[in-house]
Amino acid sequence: MNVILITSGILFGLLALALILYLTTARRYQSSESVANSYDEWTEDGILEFYWGEHIHLGHYGSPPQRKDFLEAKADFVREMVRWGGLENLPQGTTVLDVGCGIGGSSRILAREYGFSVTGITISPQQVKRAQELTPEEVDAKFQVDDAMSLSFPDGSFDVVWSIEAGPHMPDKAGFAKELIRVLKPGGILVVADWNQRDARQKPLNFWERIVMKQLLDQWSHPEFASIEGFSELLEETGLVEGSVTTDDWTEETLPSWIDSIWQGIIRPQGWLKYGVSGFVKSVREVPTILLMRLAFGAGLCRFGMFRAVRGESSPELVETASSQTAKN
Ligand SMILES: C[S@@+](CC[C@H](N)C(=O)[O-])C[C@H]1O[C@@H](n2cnc3c(N)ncnc32)[C@H](O)[C@@H]1O
Repeated sequence: MNVILITSGILFGLLALALILYLTTARRYQSSESVANSYDEWTEDGILEFYWGEHIHLGHYGSPPQRKDFLEAKADFVREMVRWGGLENLPQGTTVLDVGCGIGGSSRILAREYGFSVTGITISPQQVKRAQELTPEEVDAKFQVDDAMSLSFPDGSFDVVWSIEAGPHMPDKAGFAKELIRVLKPGGILVVADWNQRDARQKPLNFWERIVMKQLLDQWSHPEFASIEGFSELLEETGLVEGSVTTDDWTEETLPSWIDSIWQGIIRPQGWLKYGVSGFVKSVREVPTILLMRLAFGAGLCRFGMFRAVRGESSPELVETASSQTAKN
């Protein structure tokens, strides 16, 4: 009886601590600098890498989802995205831009397993430093700080543009869409995987959904989630896409990731020792957001969107039109 009381007391205390931290220490989006600062901090202390490994994205557990190791599911996600995007038979040396590359988990798989020549960009200088440390010289992946909202590369630089879970940090989705397509060579392929919100034009968010959505934005420096339909339209509106954008919904395949990420904290208590009390508090602080994410994706408020587009053979006038359209949005 005493054990039950003590255990319930500890669990209740932890939940209360998590809630207090959650409500008092939100990381609201202010600018790309605030996003960079958040990722710099997460990278420097190493906690995120300890639990999430080299990939700061969800895992792919199959359809229907199968039990899988958390870190394996993340690497599988990259391979599934390559397959879905029709990239697996592209020749060695295909140039790829990994937009919002984190510490380079995807970039290294793309270079090692598919022979691509990868450039990863992120807004976080600490992520670039860590990505470089994790990448042996023989792996054809290089990293630099760059802003996805105004990429430093000329038009038509890459055969493939790839991005996983960076979109929710972008303040102007039309500008983001334009930049992704702009740096693709004519005939090049864009593949994007992102957290999205249900299309509010089809079914507006109710009172409770708006509260949940606000928390999901404010806790992890997100200005806004696009909808799958909305972002696909923005890509097409650049005027640079050949035909239409292909989309898919991988909510089911990725859903187990949320609870698995909390589970990592329980089955790997060595992290508590490694990162001390502040690390423990910092990790526990994320639990309510992770649970809200699970709730939102499970209930259809959020959706995991996949996008594939091919850049058409475009003239400079088209690029110009696309730029002025973006300016209007
Ligand atoms: C959720 S993480 C995903 C990282 C990586 N794609 C992965 O899957 O491991 C989001 C990434 O987007 C990057 N990011 C956010 N805003 C950015 C911006 N304006 N320009 C470039 N990168 C940005 C962050 O620095 C971070 O690397």
